[in-house]
Amino acid sequence: MPLYDPLNRCIDYLRISVTDRCNLSCVYCKPRERMKVLPHDELLTYEEILRLASVAVPLGISRLRITGGEPLIRRGILDFISSLHALDGIEDISLTTNGVLLEEMAPGLLAAGISRLNISLDSLDARRFREITGSDSWDRVWRGISRAEALGFSPIKINMVPVRGVNDDEIAAFARLTVARRIHVRFIEFMPIGAHDRWHTDACVTADRVREIIEREVGVLVPFAAKKSAGPSDNYQITGGTGVIGFISPISKHFCASCRRLRLTADGKIRPCLLSDTEIDVKAPMRGGCESGELERLLRLALQVKPERHYLHETPSGCYQRTMSKIGG
Ligand code: GTP
Ligand code: 5AD
Repeated sequence: MPLYDPLNRCIDYLRISVTDRCNLSCVYCKPRERMKVLPHDELLTYEEILRLASVAVPLGISRLRITGGEPLIRRGILDFISSLHALDGIEDISLTTNGVLLEEMAPGLLAAGISRLNISLDSLDARRFREITGSDSWDRVWRGISRAEALGFSPIKINMVPVRGVNDDEIAAFARLTVARRIHVRFIEFMPIGAHDRWHTDACVTADRVREIIEREVGVLVPFAAKKSAGPSDNYQITGGTGVIGFISPISKHFCASCRRLRLTADGKIRPCLLSDTEIDVKAPMRGGCESGELERLLRLALQVKPERHYLHETPSGCYQRTMSKIGG
């Protein structure tokens, strides 16, 4: 039985952030000042996450995405994913990663039941990657992507956030990756959450602008209509290409009417919308010994309070309580 919210949106997808820590510091994701990370005992334990998932799945959640911070840095992540996979009723578990640890962990991820990978990568140039992320690990990420391709992960989606004057001159090069490889490249509009001190209207390169650049410099885009995707991405292919180009446009055309998601933060809050700070605590009730029926009630409450749409344009910059790295995208 699927779950529906009061606006009749089918909610079958839970994004689970397992840590707020990240081994990169991307300029558009975290604020520049040093960020406090959660002490370990404030994170949900894997047992607690599994308990919540085992209540959510019979209610109608069948798809999970593991996010962070960077999920691959949390110890025991592979065994945890295997345990999630063993829950009856899970149809799909995917992972969003920055790829730094992917080369060594890809075989384990495959064995744990992950086949769909989203990898964040904002530059194809090692020096520029360092400027954006503060880390010298471009080669490692690139080797990680190649290893994942060789092992047969499918799809492999690269998330690129074009920021004007930072990496928007690489849009065509990213699009060209899809000509001969089966990779999906998704261009995500820069949102004023996280490093809001960096955000201003002109810094955000809209999906229409990205499309224009690709059609001028790479080739004509034709709609890609594989099986109906539940994701926020509007998908195309370069004529004759093998990969996919996706546009995720929360700024210029929001996709809230088709949203199917709930999020669980690493510190145990259900967040019904990426772009709303309304959250429901499940950690305190679990640690207070609540029955599963109470968790079910809280999950249903999350559907009741899920906003109709985001109010990004009406929200003054810097008003969100969490950075993107503390939500998981
Ligand atoms: P799949 O459809 O399974 O590939 O998942 P996905 O597209 O959600 O993957 P991913 O985690 O890579 O999300 C891509 C990015 O899209 C996120 O990092 C966000 O920037 C943006 N995004 C995802 N979900 C939402 C949402 O509910 N609202 C908004 N505004 N942006 C979102
Ligand atoms: N705007 C848009 N996307 C962002 N991400 C992180 N911060 C932002 C932002 N401010 C994306 C990253 C990553 C995903 C988890 O979230 O590129 O791929």
